[in-house]
Amino acid sequence: MRAILGIETSCDETAASVVVDGREIRSNVVASQVDIHRPFGGVFPEVASRQHVLDIVPVIQQAMIEAKATWDSLDAIAVTRGPGLVGSLLVGANVAKTIAWARALPLVGVNHLEAHLYANWLYTERPGFPPPEQPVFPLLCLIVSGGHSDLLWMSDHGKYRVLGRTVDDAAGEAFDKVARLLGLGYPGGPAIQKAAVGGDARAFDLPRAMWNEGYDFSFSGLKTAVLHLAQGRGAALKGRQAKGKDSPWKRPAASESPDLPSDLLLADLAASFQAAVVDVLVEKTRRATEEYGAREVLLAGGVASNALLRQEMIARVKASVRFPPPALCTDNAAMVAAAGYFRRVAGDVAMWNLDVEPGARLDEMA
Ligand code: KG4
Ligand code: ZN
Repeated sequence: MRAILGIETSCDETAASVVVDGREIRSNVVASQVDIHRPFGGVFPEVASRQHVLDIVPVIQQAMIEAKATWDSLDAIAVTRGPGLVGSLLVGANVAKTIAWARALPLVGVNHLEAHLYANWLYTERPGFPPPEQPVFPLLCLIVSGGHSDLLWMSDHGKYRVLGRTVDDAAGEAFDKVARLLGLGYPGGPAIQKAAVGGDARAFDLPRAMWNEGYDFSFSGLKTAVLHLAQGRGAALKGRQAKGKDSPWKRPAASESPDLPSDLLLADLAASFQAAVVDVLVEKTRRATEEYGAREVLLAGGVASNALLRQEMIARVKASVRFPPPALCTDNAAMVAAAGYFRRVAGDVAMWNLDVEPGARLDEMA
């Protein structure tokens, strides 16, 4: 049995987790900063790093207590080294180094995108139920988060080939920006998913950029198309983003702002936007599945918790589709511990000069 303490501070979640043998979650503690950043409509980097400093020690202590782990029972410390916000990454990296040095434990540096993928290896023990089967290589992987949209071919642990990635906005970034311009608040993905319920996804014919151009994605034109539609239909953007007392991004009642689109129009816009993003992600994954003969597709990253994406991927892709539960799609440290385990098994242990890599990519690790 090998227990790894994972530490994640790449963006706006301070997280720590103990995972055994790279798969079984013993604890998974996340201190979310969403409420702190909401007034800014996005993550405020300096505020994020200061909050990580405040939260990191209690979060690690909580993860150790919940896992009933002792420092002696740990086999290694795994920490996200990038990509992410430099100030935020530095907090986790320095705490991880300190613990590893003080407890004479090996230190493993983990790529955050690889960690998202390894959320698909995780499970929580349920008495009477065997652990789920592990994903079988080779795999097609779609990582869709706030900062990335990558379609990858994964031939083995740690071995990736990039088939496509976004040329401008990431999928999650598009959700966040469109939610913001529609006055739906932050984070945008869950807000748009909720607003789209009951909306007609065919109400607006939105662009599917780069549809016939390989496996790269582009979402910035789609965002602009929604902006023009919303403006054209009388969405009072300035009025809607005016700061209120309690909830700055709260959507005012239609009676207070008669030029707002009706809730129905909003639902149609949200549904049409969501369908356009999902359509492109699913179609490119479907084509790659056929071209490469993939038998299994892994979804990962915050956008992988989108219900329509999951549903359409299962319906249209002729391969078995796996995705983590929503709490493991968004940032957490269990995925860092899982990826760290497989890196450690491969002999990949960091030196004391481990540094953060805010712009790290996955193909460079292969
Ligand atoms: O993976 P993640 O937690 O952080 C990054 O590494 O970026 O992803 C956060 C992103 C945000 O852009 C958020 O709006 C999006 O994931 N997201 C969703 C949903 N839940 C989170 N996007 C669409 N539908 C959702 N249900
Ligand atoms: Zn992430």
